[in-house]
Amino acid sequence: MHKDVKKILISAEEIDARASELAKQISDYYRERGTTPLAVGLLKGSVPFMATLIMKMDVELEMDFMDVSSYAGTKSTELRINKDVETQVDGRDVLIIEDVIDTGKTLHRVVELFENKGAADVKIATLLDKPERRECEVKVDYVGFTIPDEFVIGYGLDYNQKYRNLPYVGVIKEEAI
Ligand code: IMP
Ligand code: MG
Repeated sequence: MHKDVKKILISAEEIDARASELAKQISDYYRERGTTPLAVGLLKGSVPFMATLIMKMDVELEMDFMDVSSYAGTKSTELRINKDVETQVDGRDVLIIEDVIDTGKTLHRVVELFENKGAADVKIATLLDKPERRECEVKVDYVGFTIPDEFVIGYGLDYNQKYRNLPYVGVIKEEAI
């Protein structure tokens, strides 16, 4: 275990098993619809989970990435798009892939954005969900694990851009913050 980790919350084996279950559900959904989904990973945190998940999906799909940050605007939460998708999303089925949904502000705006671009269907798959922290309504379709209000690192999640490569989700030690 990494020296800055207090405890492992979810092991690599648990993530792998849960990703297999989700990949089956998600694949069944798109097979039924008969569409080729566009899997959109939100950089950078979603990358490890996205890789695990999509390799277990046995339907044709396309990949793209988006990098956004939400910040407090004058009236509401604004979305800054640091990198947009390069794919035409009009009429497409979009599967947004995220590391964690916390207040929900980011995802709320990202979903709105894809709807405005004319996506036919927008679904969300997240490794982690912290429902206790929700401030903005988001319909989360596929959740890996629901976790309590704790700051976690690993499997894509960072603290000051570090720890993203840990192969598990862990709670950071207070002295490392
Ligand atoms: P929100 O749902 O808009 O509040 O923001 C979610 C974003 O905050 C995620 O994409 C993460 O980048 C970050 N975040 C929230 N909770 C954690 C955590 O426990 N560890 C690391 N990053 C987090
Ligand atoms: Mg993120």
